[in-house]
Amino acid sequence: MADHPTKVDGARVLADLTALRAIGAYKTGVHRPTFSEPHLSSLKWLVDRLPQAGLAGEIDGIGNVLGISTKPGPKLLAGSHLESQNFAGWLDGPLGVVYALEAARVINPDPAIKGAVEVASWCDEEGHFGHFLGSRSFVGDITEEDIDAAHDRTDNRSMREALRAAGLAERRRVSAQRGRQIGYLEAHIEQGRTLESSGLGIGVVTSIVGIWQYRIIITGEQNHAGTTRMKDRRDAGLAAARLCVAIDDRFPAAADPRTVWTTGRITLDPGAPSIIPGHAEILFQIRDDNPALVERLEALLRETATEVATATGCSVEVECIRTGKPAMMDEKFQQAIEEAASDFAEGKSIRMPSGAGHDAQVLATIMPAGMLFVPSIGGISHHWSENTDDADIVRGAEVFVDACRRLLSN
Ligand code: GLV
Ligand code: MN
Ligand code: MN
Repeated sequence: MADHPTKVDGARVLADLTALRAIGAYKTGVHRPTFSEPHLSSLKWLVDRLPQAGLAGEIDGIGNVLGISTKPGPKLLAGSHLESQNFAGWLDGPLGVVYALEAARVINPDPAIKGAVEVASWCDEEGHFGHFLGSRSFVGDITEEDIDAAHDRTDNRSMREALRAAGLAERRRVSAQRGRQIGYLEAHIEQGRTLESSGLGIGVVTSIVGIWQYRIIITGEQNHAGTTRMKDRRDAGLAAARLCVAIDDRFPAAADPRTVWTTGRITLDPGAPSIIPGHAEILFQIRDDNPALVERLEALLRETATEVATATGCSVEVECIRTGKPAMMDEKFQQAIEEAASDFAEGKSIRMPSGAGHDAQVLATIMPAGMLFVPSIGGISHHWSENTDDADIVRGAEVFVDACRRLLSN
C-alpha cells in the first residue's frame, strides 16, 4: 500500500455514477443520446459539481464542458464523455468523467500537491452527429461547415437545430490553449475481456486503434415480390447479404489477429415484405492500428464489391466516409499509471492496446495523452447490461487519482 494516501472517496465515486445512471435510465443502463434532454441534464449535473473541485466552467457552443482551475502550477486535463449510445451502458463515458471529477476534488484543494486537475466532458464521443465532434472542436479540427453538415444518425435532426433547442447556439466553442496542460488522462471501462479473463484490475493503454468507415450503396431493381421470377431479379438486399458473407470469407487471410470489421447497419429500400429491394445501404467499419493493412483490406473490399455487382446485376459503390489515425499513448503517462497500479492495485496491471475509439486519441494530437482501463464484466459494452464490479470501480479511481498526482509531481 502507498505511503501517500490519495483520499479517494470510493462511496462518493459510486454515488456520482449512480446519480448519472438515473439520468435517462433504461433497464440497468441509460439512453442518453447526444443533445437529448437526459444528456443535457447530465452536462448540467457536471457543471453544478465543478465548484466542489475548485473549478469553473459551463457547457460550450458544441456541448463540451470544461472545468478550469485558477490554482497556480501545472495543469492536467482529465475527462471522458456523458452521452451514451442508444439504449446502452451506464459506465461508457461517465466512469472517466467521475474519476476526473474525483481527482480534481482530491488534488485541487491539497496545497501539498503542485498544480491542478481540470475536468472535461467531450460531446458526442459516441458519434450520433459525427465522430469525436466535441474533442475535435477543442483541438481545432472542426469548422462551422462541419457543424452545418452534421445530422443525428437516428432521426436526422441537424446539429444546428439541436444546439438551438439546447440554448447553446449563441455560445462560443472553447478551444485548447496550447501549452496550458501538461497532458490528458482518461479512464474508461475496458469493453473487452482481457482484464477479467486474466484476473487483472488495470489496463495501461499503449495505443488506440484507428477507425475507418464506409458507406456501401447497392442499386438493383425494385419490383413485385410475387410476380417477378427469381432469374429476372436484381435484388439489392440479396446483394448486400452476399457482400457481407464474401467479406467475412476473405478478410481473415489479409487481416491481423487484432483487426476487426463490422457491418453495423443494413438499410433496405423500400423495406417491405412484398417488394424486392431496389436499394440497400451498408455501414461498414474496419479497425486496426496499421493504416497500411487497412489500405489492403479496403482494396479487397472494393474488389469483392465489384465481384458481387457482376454476380447480382446490381451496382455496388463503396465510399470511404471516415479515416482514423491510430494514436500512441505517451510513455511517461503509461509509467505513471503502472506505478499507481503497483501501489493501489497490487501491481495487477497489463499494457494493452485499445480496440475502442476514445477522445484521448484526439487529445493526443496536441498533447501527451494516456488512458487506463478497468475490467468490464463479461466484456459487454454498447449494451444496457454493461457493468463493472464496485470494487473494481473504486480501485480504478484510486489508481487514476494517484496517476494524476504522479504526473503533476513530475
Ligand atoms: C467508441 O465508443 C467506439 O465505438 O469505439
Ligand atoms: Mn466511451
Ligand atoms: Mn462507447
